[in-house]
Amino acid sequence: MKILESCYISDVRIQNRIVLPAMAMNLARDGYVTREMIEHYGKFARNNVGLVIVEGAAVDPRGKDLHGGLAIYSDKFCIGLNELAEEIKYNGSAAGIQFLHPGGCATPKVEGNEPIAPSSVEYTMFMHGKKSFKAKARELSREEIRSLVEMFAEAAGRAKDCGFDLVEINAAHGWLFSQFLSPNTNKRSDEYGGSFENRIRFSLEVLEAVKSVGIPVIFRIDGSFPSYGGVSDDEILKYAVELEKAGVDCLHVSGGFAITPMIVKRGILLSGAFKIKSAVKVPVIGVGGISVEMAVDLIEKGKIDLVALGRALLADPELVIKLSEKRIKDIRPCTRCNDCIDRLFSSRQFIAKCSINPEVKIEKVEKPKKIVVIGGGVAGMEFARIASIRGHKVTIIEKDQQLGGNLIPASISSFKSDLRSYLEWLKGQLKNVEVLLKTEATSEKIKEIGPELVVIAVGSEHDIPNIPGIETSLKAVDVLTGKVKTGKRVVILGGGRIGCETALHLAEEGKEVTILEILSDIALDLERNYRFALLRELRNKNVKWLCNFKAEKVAERKIFGSIDGKKVEVEFDSLVVATGMKPRKIDIKLEVPTYYIGDCVKPRNVGSAVYEAANLASRI
Ligand SMILES: Cc1cc2nc3c(=O)[nH]c(=O)nc-3n(C[C@H](O)[C@H](O)[C@H](O)COP(=O)(O)O)c2cc1C
Ligand code: SF4
Repeated sequence: MKILESCYISDVRIQNRIVLPAMAMNLARDGYVTREMIEHYGKFARNNVGLVIVEGAAVDPRGKDLHGGLAIYSDKFCIGLNELAEEIKYNGSAAGIQFLHPGGCATPKVEGNEPIAPSSVEYTMFMHGKKSFKAKARELSREEIRSLVEMFAEAAGRAKDCGFDLVEINAAHGWLFSQFLSPNTNKRSDEYGGSFENRIRFSLEVLEAVKSVGIPVIFRIDGSFPSYGGVSDDEILKYAVELEKAGVDCLHVSGGFAITPMIVKRGILLSGAFKIKSAVKVPVIGVGGISVEMAVDLIEKGKIDLVALGRALLADPELVIKLSEKRIKDIRPCTRCNDCIDRLFSSRQFIAKCSINPEVKIEKVEKPKKIVVIGGGVAGMEFARIASIRGHKVTIIEKDQQLGGNLIPASISSFKSDLRSYLEWLKGQLKNVEVLLKTEATSEKIKEIGPELVVIAVGSEHDIPNIPGIETSLKAVDVLTGKVKTGKRVVILGGGRIGCETALHLAEEGKEVTILEILSDIALDLERNYRFALLRELRNKNVKWLCNFKAEKVAERKIFGSIDGKKVEVEFDSLVVATGMKPRKIDIKLEVPTYYIGDCVKPRNVGSAVYEAANLASRI
C-alpha cells in the first residue's frame, strides 16, 4: 500500500503518508506543555503515524485561542516543547508544530488576548458556546505587522532548537493570515492591503522570516472552491503558486468548512487540494472528513501526496497499525458527531475528548466473572466489548431481533451513515460475547445463565407529554425505523435533535413537515457545525418551524396551542412526538450485584453511554 510508503517534505523523512493534523485539545496549562500532552502526542507516534503536527501554538501573547492552548511566544515554554518534540521523534514519527494567530478573532475570554487585525472590522468570537458574539478588532500599525513577522521567526527558532522537524503556519480558517488575504477584512491602503500582491505580503514576509531560521515550512491554506471572503478562485491558486515560489516546502489544503459533521459529504475540501496540486510541485496534504478507505485510494491514485486524518485518529489512534495489518474493519470509525470540538468550543471550554474512544486502561483479569448484560444498545455493547477483552465471560440479552437499541433509529437516515458504521463496528467487536437476541430478560432466564453480576443497559423510551388527545400521535423512533408510516402532512412536536433529524428524514421521503418547538429556536442541543448544516438542509427541503409554541390539545387532526399568548392551530395527517426521552424501567428481581449504565440511568448522548460503560467494564 502506497499510503504506508515513506516520503519526504523538504529533507524530512516521513515513515508513511498519514498525518495527524493540528488539533487543539485544551491540554496545555498557561501555554505550557503538560504530561498529558506528551502522552497524547506520543500515543500517535507509538502507533506509527507518519507526521504528527502538534496543535496551533500561540506566537503572540495577544493571540491565544483557548484557556488550555499551547504557546511558543517565549523561551519559558521550551522545556516542555523540547520534551514533546523528542517524545514524538523517539517513537518514530516526524514532529511538526503549528503556529496559530487568531488575529481579530482572539477571544477576550482568554487572559491577555487582544483582537488585532489588518483593519478595524467586526469579527465573530468563537469559544463562547452557542452564544458567540461579534467584536471590533484594533487595526495593526505597520510597525506592529513587522514585529509580528519577527514573532513568527522567533517562534520558528524555538521550534527548531526544541527539536521539531518542521513548522506549519495556519494561514487558513479565517485566522490572521486569512484576514490579510480577504479584501472583506483587509481594508488597508498601505503595502499590506488593496491589490492581491499587497494582501499576500504578510504571508510572504512570514514565510521568508521563518525559512531564514532553517526549518522546513508547511503553509495550511484555505482551498475552498468556490472561494469565500471576497478572495477569487484564481487568487487561491495564485496564492499557492506564490508561496511555492517563495520557498514553501509543502501545502496543506484545508478550507472554510473545516470540521464537517456527518451530514456533510466526506472529502468536500479535496477538490481544492486537487486543483492546488496540479498548480504546484511541492507535496500537497489533503484533509477534511477523509475516511481510511478514501485515504488509501487518494494516495494510491496519486491525487494528493499525504493525507491528514484528524478525528479519525482521535477515534482510533491505532489506525495506522490496524491498516498495515489489513484489519480495516477493526478501525473504530469516527462518526463526525463533533462532540470533540463541541467540548472545546463550549462556553466553559473542556478537553476535546472523543465520545466513542474512552481510552480506559484495559487490563486482563485474574479471575474472570460470568456477567449478564441486559440490553444491547451502545452502553450494553461497549461494556461487553471491554469486559470480554479483559477476559470476563459476557452474555448480552436483547429483546429485539438485532443489536443496537436506540442507535438503530438514530443511525437509519441517509445523513447518519457515519453513525451506522460505528454501530457495525461495535457489533463486529463482540466476537467473544454470547448474544441472545429476541430474548426477554426474566428472573428465570438470568438464574438459568447464573451470572455473578448483572449490568442493566435497557436504554430510554419516548417521554410523551401530558396533552389531551396526544394518544393518537406517533413516536419519532417508530417513524424512523419504519414501524409506522406517516401521512403526507406531518407535524413534529419537539424541535431538538430527534425532532429535527426526524423532520429531515421525512422531508427526504417527500413529506411536508412542520416542527413545533417550545423554545425560542430549534436544534439548540446540536454542535454548531452540525446545526448550521442541518438547518440548511431543513430549509432546502422546505421544512417549516414555529418556535415558542405551547401545545394545549390535539383533536380532529389538529394541534392547538399558543405562541406568545396568541392562539395557533396546525393541521396534520400525522403528528409525531419528539419531546424527549425518559429512562426505560425494568421489573426484575436479581440476587447478584447489579449495575445500571447508559440511558436507563438518565437519557443522554452516545458519549455518556460509552464512557459510563467503559469505566465500569475497566474496573469490574
Ligand atoms: C478538536 C479539534 C481541534 C482542532 N484544532 C485545530 C488547530 O489547532 N489548528 C488547525 O489548523 N486545525 C484544527 N482543527 C481542524 C483539524 O486540523 C482538521 O482540519 C479537521 O478536523 C478536519 O479533518 P478531519 O475530518 O480528518 O478531522 C481541529 C479539529 C478538531 C476536531
Ligand atoms: S468525538 Fe465524534 S467527531 Fe470527534 S473524533 Fe470522536 S467520533 Fe469523531
